[in-house]
Amino acid sequence: MCGIVGCVGHGDDTLDVLLDGLETLEYRGYDSAGVALVGDSLIVKKREGRLERLREAIETSDRPGGTLGIGHTRWSTHGPPTDANAHPHTDESGRVAVVHNGIIENYQPLRDKLEADGVTFTSDTDTEVVPHLIAAFLQDGLDPEAAFRRALDRIEGSYAIAAVVAGDDRIYAARNDSPLVVGVGDGRFYLGSDVPAFLEHTRDVVFLDDGDLVVVDADGWQVTDADGAPAEKEVTTVTWSAEQTGKSGYDHYMLKEIHEQPTALRQGLSGRLDELAGTVSVEELSGIEAPGAVQLVACGTSYHAALYGVELFRQAGIPAQAFLASEYATGPAPVLEDGIVVGVTQSGETADTLSALREAQARGIETLAVTNGVGSTAARECDHALFIRSGPEIGVAATKTFSSQLIALNLLVETLAPGDRGDTRTLVSALRDLPGDIQEVLDETAAETVVEENAGRDAFFFIGRGENFPVALEGALKFKEITYEHAEGFAAGELKHGPLALVTDRTPVFAVVTGNDERARKTIGNVKEVEARDAPVVAVTDGASDVERYADHVLSIPETHPRTAPVLANVQLQLVAYHMANQLGREIDKPRNLAKSVTVE
Ligand code: M6R
Repeated sequence: MCGIVGCVGHGDDTLDVLLDGLETLEYRGYDSAGVALVGDSLIVKKREGRLERLREAIETSDRPGGTLGIGHTRWSTHGPPTDANAHPHTDESGRVAVVHNGIIENYQPLRDKLEADGVTFTSDTDTEVVPHLIAAFLQDGLDPEAAFRRALDRIEGSYAIAAVVAGDDRIYAARNDSPLVVGVGDGRFYLGSDVPAFLEHTRDVVFLDDGDLVVVDADGWQVTDADGAPAEKEVTTVTWSAEQTGKSGYDHYMLKEIHEQPTALRQGLSGRLDELAGTVSVEELSGIEAPGAVQLVACGTSYHAALYGVELFRQAGIPAQAFLASEYATGPAPVLEDGIVVGVTQSGETADTLSALREAQARGIETLAVTNGVGSTAARECDHALFIRSGPEIGVAATKTFSSQLIALNLLVETLAPGDRGDTRTLVSALRDLPGDIQEVLDETAAETVVEENAGRDAFFFIGRGENFPVALEGALKFKEITYEHAEGFAAGELKHGPLALVTDRTPVFAVVTGNDERARKTIGNVKEVEARDAPVVAVTDGASDVERYADHVLSIPETHPRTAPVLANVQLQLVAYHMANQLGREIDKPRNLAKSVTVE
């Protein structure tokens, strides 16, 4: 949540570098935005609302100069989105400016003490204690680095923090439970809560660890650990390009990312399928023994991928359960013997998922992260990491990363519990064809027509069974999060146990029916139940069954393997959600109240 950017070593364009960096991070939060620049003095500009408002405010006033600075885009936790609560926050004299992601859990006692000492606060935020603490330690005669470190010693909670001090030419930053990376350019250095913040300038990156404190100036960067000892850090060159983080002519990142799925899946499969032998081989997984049981932990869309993973593990004969990560670490620990806990997380930074993985590690259980975040906290903390290789996903709504997660879970299951040779060969061939099949869906979809004919209804329901149950849940989540319309996903067989009471001629039901096995036939039975209540039915199908007979509309997918059919069906539902949200004029890439990376529990 929230985005941080910083840069040192630029000239007159420092402000633009910060604002452009914030623009790429707006998916992390967009309640308010602000910058602090250090030149002859420290100048702070901040505004409630989208970054655009900050740009307008800067255009209509004196443009702040300076050769180093920090910036922030906020997703509110403490205090509503207002100018006063926007970051950066300063001390009373305006000498220190601070931006912060995360939550300072002990801010109230710190604030009480500072107020008792006569400090006047100007915001409702937890963050504001930090510049006041730094200022107090500077007042005591400490140098800026020592004052920053002393302030960190006082605070508890999760944070990525960056601070600048008037008259000083360095940025001080630290991380604890919230991501922070350093960008290494030629005489120019950057900070970001995520790599896209400075990707336009450099692809050389230093991933910081919890407890690290970094000092960045025009001569370079130095990292020390929590005890102040120098910490060795590697510079990693990321393969993402700045172009990949742009919209490439699409109206929205979400639409671009939906269309990137063929490429994303090719990347995820590259070098991992042996088509001649008909086998799967994933280097990152070579150190993992076949587990006796698997628990998958995840949130949101990634939880739906985890539910799909459960189905695959069970088909392979390995007992598996999926847990909402936010429930996993807070109750009695679910029993697991001779097993592995798999965290499914696009970002690798979701606080709930990290807590669940840490809980498993504390119990001595082996952990694996299935993630897009190379260098992410989950990837670094888990015993193993399987990278889904989707490339950057900017839209808040997860699309291509969900498809990539489903594919990665197939690779995982085939590696840990290889199936019958013939079965694996058929799956490998379906996986190889999947990017082309997705392209066919993208080229031929009737999603826009379905949306036009179903606009303005009361609610939208999604049903499926087996591998298609997670698709129903995901179809509903995507729909509600970007259209703000009421949508719910159900296991098809559950409809008659309650939700059927909601079904009318004003509630379209999207039925995901692939193949023609017992599950498909039973789902068709459920379709007949809603049809009998006059609900408009949209069948998402490969045409293997006769579900089309009972449907008002059909969203077709090519015939494929039972395990890859859910990926294709989901692409159709992504397009339905996108076109409905577009028709309603919603803020598709930045849905209200949401953020891309949820780093608070
Ligand atoms: O980064 P993660 O996969 O751990 O994120 C988990 C959820 O916050 C995320 O999947 C969320 O539900 C989607 N962005 C919704 O589209």
